This record gives sequence, C-alpha cells and structure tokens, in this order.
Amino acid sequence: AEETLVLVKPDGVARNLTGEILRRIEAKGYQLVDIKVVQADRDLLAAHYEEHVGKPFYEPLVEFMESGPIVAIRVAGNRVIEGFRSLAGTTDPTTAAPGTIRGDLARDWGLKVQQNLVHGSDSPESAARELALWF
Ligand code: GTP
Ligand code: MG
Repeated sequence: AEETLVLVKPDGVARNLTGEILRRIEAKGYQLVDIKVVQADRDLLAAHYEEHVGKPFYEPLVEFMESGPIVAIRVAGNRVIEGFRSLAGTTDPTTAAPGTIRGDLARDWGLKVQQNLVHGSDSPESAARELALWF
C-alpha cells in the first residue's frame, strides 16, 4: 500500500494532542506502520524542509520544529498521501475547514510561524524522501 510521513509537530505534542491525531488517522481506516518520538536536529530539519530554504518563514519554522519532541509516524493505505492532507486541512489554521485536524484543533497565535500541529508528505516523491530521513 502507499505510505506517507505524518509528523505531530512540537505544538501538537506539547498540547497533548498526539492521541487525538492518531485517533483520527485510525478512525479513517489507515494503518500505523511505525511510530517514534524524535528530537529533531538542524541537519534533519534542513533536509526535511529543503524546498523552503531561503523563504522568510524558514528560520522561525526550523526554530519551532526543534523546540520540542516530534512524533513521527509511518502511515499506510490506498491514497493515504492525499487522504491525510485532506484530514489535516489547509496550512493556515485560521481558515482550515472545521472537521479537519487544523480546522478543529489549531489557531493563529500571532507568532512568526504557523503552528499547525501536523505535517503530511505532499507527493509520492516527498513521502519516499521524507520516510528515508525520519525512519
Ligand atoms: P507541512 O505538512 O508541514 O509541510 O505543511 P504544508 O505542506 O501545509 O505547508 P508547507 O510545506 O507549504 O510549509 C511548511 C510549514 O511552514 C507549514 O506547515 C507552516 O508551519 C509553515 N509555513 C508555510 N507557509 C507559511 C507562511 O506563509 N507563513 C508562515 N508564517 N509560516 C508558513
Ligand atoms: Mg509541506
């Protein structure tokens, strides 16, 4: 089956939302294949976010992502890459649709980076690359 990388970002772990996020993934019918708690370092984050290097939100994003533990999850299922992006909702939590993880559980805190609880790979190429980095 197709696989994707889901990250519960440091805001999600700190707010004790890991269980709620896992619940939504399982309730949708996807399989949890592997899971671990990671304290990400700069090298890992630079590789993970290589597409964003040089953008104005890059530094605050990396600082946020290294600010505390992350839960990394290998999730499997038919069309899971697209399916998890749909469960997560759009990037900006203020306007993410109700019913989604970001729409229901995240908001704008007036910080330099969007703290939007989760990451999900955005293509089969990204998923393969990111899963190799985190697992
Ligand atoms: P991920 O699943 O985390 O990759 O989110 P995404 O695919 O919805 O967003 P994207 O890959 O474009 O950006 C990665 C992360 O950078 C986002 O999840 C946000 O935390 C942050 N980010 C992206 N765009 C902006 C922006 O325009 N402003 C700010 N402040 N943060 C942003
Ligand atoms: Mg992305």
